[in-house]
Amino acid sequence: MNTIAVIGTGYVGLVTGAWFAELGNTVICVDIIEEKIARLREGEMPFFEPGLAELVIRNTEAARLRFTTDYTKAVPDAGFVFITVDTPPGPNGKADMSRVESASRSIAQHLKGHTVIINKSTMPMGSGDFVARTLEMNAPPDVTFAVVSNPEFLREGAAVRDVMEPDRVVLGGMDTEAVNAVAGLYATMEVPIVRTDLQTAELIKYASNAMLATRISFINEIAAICDVFGADVRVVAEGMGYDPRIGPLFLSAGIGFGGSCFPKDVKALAHMAKENNLHPQLLNSVLEINQYQRYRFVAKVEKYVGDLRGKRIGVWGLAFKQDTDDMREAPSIEIIESLMDRGAQVRAYDPEANVTAQRAIRDLVTVLDPYEAVKGADALLLLTPWNEFKQADMARVCEAMRTPVLLDGRNLYDREQMRALGFTYRGIGY
Ligand code: UGA
Repeated sequence: MNTIAVIGTGYVGLVTGAWFAELGNTVICVDIIEEKIARLREGEMPFFEPGLAELVIRNTEAARLRFTTDYTKAVPDAGFVFITVDTPPGPNGKADMSRVESASRSIAQHLKGHTVIINKSTMPMGSGDFVARTLEMNAPPDVTFAVVSNPEFLREGAAVRDVMEPDRVVLGGMDTEAVNAVAGLYATMEVPIVRTDLQTAELIKYASNAMLATRISFINEIAAICDVFGADVRVVAEGMGYDPRIGPLFLSAGIGFGGSCFPKDVKALAHMAKENNLHPQLLNSVLEINQYQRYRFVAKVEKYVGDLRGKRIGVWGLAFKQDTDDMREAPSIEIIESLMDRGAQVRAYDPEANVTAQRAIRDLVTVLDPYEAVKGADALLLLTPWNEFKQADMARVCEAMRTPVLLDGRNLYDREQMRALGFTYRGIGY
């Protein structure tokens, strides 16, 4: 079996490392944050992700998966080194490559013999060459290496399933032997492999996220048109989705996309286009519509509740999507801050993200029970479509509110059922 080092224990690194260990490889994950590594050794996950703790603990106990802050314990013996550190947005949306650069330097200083370095984080076009140059400049003279791009397509909240059953594996690189070696890591999985050059592999990742974000902004624009004409966006999407050229997925209208990927990657791609004298009008519009969805939602709250000063607003859901505690670029942040700026008293509940949300939204009041959030409220806003909310006792909610206004930012509920219970109900384009 192979010896693999994974640099960075964020979503991508931890899930990838645990999965390659599950496949029987020896994996050692490296992170510079000591506390994170100490907690991982105890089986404590740094974030909530269904199924991940079990996978990590099982493989740690089987001694296939280890954690360290020390590159000397990980890199010299590894045949494969995955770079999975984050590339956060810098000024103008440009991807910040400083963590990739410092990880590459540290890897270089510990290389021994021949090693394949794999870029798995989302990195701008040209990063494969950048990593190769950084390694070249910092590695001892007697080592050899090849760089392969192998972007990751997993989704938060479904990461374990996605890594076990990927739709495709993309491998970019000009060193055929290295590309074949990385393909070998996926040999036991039935999955199409796309082999290409570094730049194309890097662009496949950005183009995929940009396409998905485009579908969401598209359906959100259609939802705004539905609102005007009294049409139902859910049925519009269903009717469109039967066309195999369109397909049904990623056509749920809502308060817009958030998370650590779509906003960052669309901005980075637009930036790369602009920097090269192109005018990325579609990408710019995708971002603009996404922003506009949040304003539109706040305007809807004002329309149904009136002057927000002193009004009690219950919020269900804070995370950028269900099954995660991640608050990065969550639409809830801007929506709640706008409501509080207008004088509303917000009480929020999220099954997993209460703590992370308190760090993201100043003066946020969270409660530990969903029914507590709606007590005496003038409106309930549904911002994240957790299953728990779908199954809630909505008659009890209606009863507990001062005015039963339900503004559903994810079209989670059945409109007729909610109206029959006594709610004034509005969805998005529904
Ligand atoms: C996204 C991609 O789906 C992954 O394939 C990719 O690997 C990942 O980014 C990444 O680059 O690391 P993720 O950000 O975890 O994954 O979440 P998604 O499930 O794609 O949702 C993103 C946002 O779009 C959420 O806020 C979600 O609520 C919203 N969304 C999604 C909609 O508003 N409507 C939809 O129909 C689907």
